[in-house]
Amino acid sequence: MKRTLGVCYYPEHWPDAQWAEDAARMATLGLTWVRIGEFAWSRLEPVPGRLEFDWLDRAIETLGSAGLKVVLGTPTATPPRWMLDRHPDMLAVDRDGRERGFGSRRHYDFSHEGYRRESARITTLLAERYGRNPHVGAWQTDNEYACHDTVLSYSPTALRAFRNWLARRYQSPEALNRAWGNVFWSMDYASFEEIGLPNLTVTEANPAHWMAFRRFASDMVVEFNRIQTEIIRKHSSYPIAHNYMGQITDFDHFAVGADLDIASWDAYPLGFLSDRLAASPEHKRRFVRQGDPDFQAFHHDLYRAVGRGRWWIMEQQPGPVNWAPWNPDPLPGMARLWAWEAFAHGAEAVCYFRWRQAPFAQEQMHAGLLRPDSVPAPAYDEAAQVARELAAMPDQGTAAAKVALVFDYASAWAWEVQPQGRDFSYFRLVFESYRALRRLGLNIDILPPDATDLSAYQLVLAPGVATLTDAFLGALAQYRGLSLIGPRTNAKTTEFATPVPLPPNLPGLAATIARVESLPPDVPVPLSQGGQFLHWREKIETAAEIVESTADGWPALIRAGGLHYLAGWAEAKTMINLLEKLCAEAGLPTMRLPDSLRMRDTASHRFVFNYGPDEVEWHGRRIAPAGVYWERL
Ligand code: GAL
Repeated sequence: MKRTLGVCYYPEHWPDAQWAEDAARMATLGLTWVRIGEFAWSRLEPVPGRLEFDWLDRAIETLGSAGLKVVLGTPTATPPRWMLDRHPDMLAVDRDGRERGFGSRRHYDFSHEGYRRESARITTLLAERYGRNPHVGAWQTDNEYACHDTVLSYSPTALRAFRNWLARRYQSPEALNRAWGNVFWSMDYASFEEIGLPNLTVTEANPAHWMAFRRFASDMVVEFNRIQTEIIRKHSSYPIAHNYMGQITDFDHFAVGADLDIASWDAYPLGFLSDRLAASPEHKRRFVRQGDPDFQAFHHDLYRAVGRGRWWIMEQQPGPVNWAPWNPDPLPGMARLWAWEAFAHGAEAVCYFRWRQAPFAQEQMHAGLLRPDSVPAPAYDEAAQVARELAAMPDQGTAAAKVALVFDYASAWAWEVQPQGRDFSYFRLVFESYRALRRLGLNIDILPPDATDLSAYQLVLAPGVATLTDAFLGALAQYRGLSLIGPRTNAKTTEFATPVPLPPNLPGLAATIARVESLPPDVPVPLSQGGQFLHWREKIETAAEIVESTADGWPALIRAGGLHYLAGWAEAKTMINLLEKLCAEAGLPTMRLPDSLRMRDTASHRFVFNYGPDEVEWHGRRIAPAGVYWERL
């Protein structure tokens, strides 16, 4: 497969006279793709029903004539102002009951029928007009579902849709009462019409109520997206993508992905480090201009799974962004390193965001490949270098991983709904396991929670999965390799009740979690052979083999055959040591990488990336900061 580069471009931001020159420069730079259109609704339809597509025709023609391929976005993330006059109740409402306003983007409620029809209408017009245009090569639906906290809406519209959803799921109020345990605190309902949204209750709402609401909200995103994919497919055979975000778990990306051909994500390594990563101040300081060394890779592997093998970077940070608490300039070389890391993880394309920095509006402080005066910014030359290197590089393929890690969106909802300890974050628990595996130099596959076949792997991890699916439990029973399940896994039913017999209820493992505790971060639970648990631990009664105990005498790690259960949140070094032993038993070679270096093998090459701020010596080579090297395997 040919791996390609691209860029995000907004023809509507620039005079028409500029387009041809921009397109020629993009082509000279070695770009293949140009994504356009995703926020252009007010220029496509300035007043309701008056369609002005001629400028888009010309833009696509100009870009295509220069040899570029267009990714065409549906503009539904930015309904124009007139839309609110037609649908005054289409705005989402936040958890405190305040309606969200016009004047930025993503101002719509996923469940709003009227807005869904408008989205279908504009998508149909675009798909009919450009579905077979030879210059178009792919589609993008909407833009970054869930970004700016836009999935959970507490609007009257959402309430109506939620009641319908509940009626379909539970059939009768009695069944719902039973499933949720509404006898508790006299919460029984006599009809679906009595049920409200779970915000604004006096104290916490029933976690089962919350879980139902979270599932409903996720389903609304899936439905909204599916309306567009079904329309596009009627008129076009070009692949359809959506651009997901980093560390966003408010909807089930696997479920949306089932309707797409390609998963893509928007990689802003420095923004994410500053804005969302849970890490120490020292860590954030050390990687301030490079980004966290595992955060991008984790999402590459996640979206490879969401895209069932096909995935892209739709937006790649090229310089300082504008939206994080602090917005440093990347180290020289990072715009190249990030792209190569994505390719090493199997990306088909990497598109930089954006072509030219805008001198107006919200993102004027956000770098592009060009400055606002059209002079190349530093990432321009780095992109050119990647283009040259790609041209000289044979296809590297994507190597199969021997280690798999399960990621489950519903578990993120479950532990947000009832964390039990303030700092219990599902994302962080999984991410820390991922990081520990990466420190050992391993390739990793991420699996959806309903994976049915584990036979390709020698080690499978499933930390924190609230409810293991029957599919996964079946796969686990068949699997002959090593697995590490837990902590807090299979701890709830799908209706968020505690199962009896008590968890973990794993095939062949005689174990009962008798009690759990959450702990403040400065209260570790020491293990008898060194190392410690943090945040969370479980007290297990078991007849299984005890591999390791806590210093206070409870089983910390137990096993039955290849199946291991971990009874606490292992601190970083403890996790690395544990995984190293498991890999040794599984026959998987590991190496301890220096803190700055990360590795990824493709079918033919080994790639090594220096994320650190200093030069590193590794196997006789000196690797500069932001350095990437590859060698044949
Ligand atoms: C992304 C978004 C882009 C742009 C970019 C800035 O989240 O999709 O439209 O806003 O961030 O970093």
